[in-house]
Amino acid sequence: MEIYSQRREKLFSLLGDGAAIIPSGVEKIKSFDTGYPFRQDSNFNYLTGFEEPESLLVFCPQNPEGKTALFLRPKDKLAEMWEGRRMGLDKAKEVLGVDLVFSIHELDKKLPELLENHSKLYLDLFSNRPLVDKALRYLTKLAGRKKSKIISPQNLINLPPLIGSMRLRKDATEIENIKKAAEISGKAHLAAMAFAGHEKNEYEVQALMEYIFKKEGSQGSAYQSIVAGGNNANVLHYINNNEVLKKDDLLLIDAGCEVNLYASDITRTFPIGGRFSAEQKEVYQIVLEAQKKALSQSKIGNTLTHNHDAATEVLVQGLLDLKVLKGTLSEHLEKQSFKDYWPHGTGHWLGLDVHDNSPYVNEEKSDIVFEEGMIFTIEPGLYLPAEDSNVPEKLRGIGIRIEDDVLITNNGHEILTHHAPKEIEAVEEACQKNYRDFL
Ligand code: GLY
Ligand code: MN
Ligand code: MN
Repeated sequence: MEIYSQRREKLFSLLGDGAAIIPSGVEKIKSFDTGYPFRQDSNFNYLTGFEEPESLLVFCPQNPEGKTALFLRPKDKLAEMWEGRRMGLDKAKEVLGVDLVFSIHELDKKLPELLENHSKLYLDLFSNRPLVDKALRYLTKLAGRKKSKIISPQNLINLPPLIGSMRLRKDATEIENIKKAAEISGKAHLAAMAFAGHEKNEYEVQALMEYIFKKEGSQGSAYQSIVAGGNNANVLHYINNNEVLKKDDLLLIDAGCEVNLYASDITRTFPIGGRFSAEQKEVYQIVLEAQKKALSQSKIGNTLTHNHDAATEVLVQGLLDLKVLKGTLSEHLEKQSFKDYWPHGTGHWLGLDVHDNSPYVNEEKSDIVFEEGMIFTIEPGLYLPAEDSNVPEKLRGIGIRIEDDVLITNNGHEILTHHAPKEIEAVEEACQKNYRDFL
């Protein structure tokens, strides 16, 4: 719990004399009265470690009775019998180290009091409209007490970028979680390479991987698995995963698990029949070289743009060599006229969210510079759709992406997803293995 307390202290130093409210995640209905699995809000988790829904953390540095307060569900024998155990107020105060605890049912009464005498209020302004409306109602109530001598918040400020900037650099525990997630996901990719084959269905491969995610101790997928055979790989967010695999096609799998809410994010592309064709090899080598070029840029002082530019140059030269594009490298780079085949960024921050909710540019609008402890993906790809008549016929229907998770260290970087092979020979070898060895 010490780490959460340290994070709250750091956030206090960024808030000044402002108050802040951070809600837990919300239970979402899937159908009528049945829900999706609950997933805690990342920022709330980052600052409390508390796992329950219907909770709200308050920073109120001007409140004389205590500067942190947690609203949560009270103990309730009947509700707990049906829905699961609750920590309850007393234990929460003892375990979580907050100054004050209140029942969530007291929110309307207590929260306005806690916000008194703060000049501004930080909260998520853009993705939680109900909370903004509620906060405005509280502030309207406070502002109406004109003759009282309390200061009421007059400014609302968006909070996530502040917490996002704290989340950019990962501490040792966070790195351990992501490493563990990457290791489990790597094992699942190895199993998928061994298992996939002619006439198997995409969903069988997905099910095997997600079985391994859970069996190995993660909480499950960090995001919806993409298991895309052949031309399906050219749909970037293909999640139907319900077609039959063909031995002469490639299989692109973008799947990763989360450990203690920390994500891994891996893509591998391999031949369903176990051996790459000459054409598949040619495209694969270009993507692999682009990935390595971007990796060589991944060090303190550089930025995600260095990675992207390095990968893009290799990919676009590759598209010229493959005769998918005509013209010159410099003209395509200048006009960005390669986006039909290389349409997305080379990477994103990785952490509590798979696309970690941290800033990409600083206040001067320049790129965030890599520092030790930052973690991101490198995921170049080439997408050559079957329907595109500008693509040489023998290459049509090939879609390849290779994605690793990378930690910046004091002397360069560490690839956290090294368990999943990506060199051609190693991939082909993994395809020959028995998937049962991974169970
Ligand atoms: N799996 C999501 C991504 O690669 O960004
Ligand atoms: Mn990614
Ligand atoms: Mn991915």
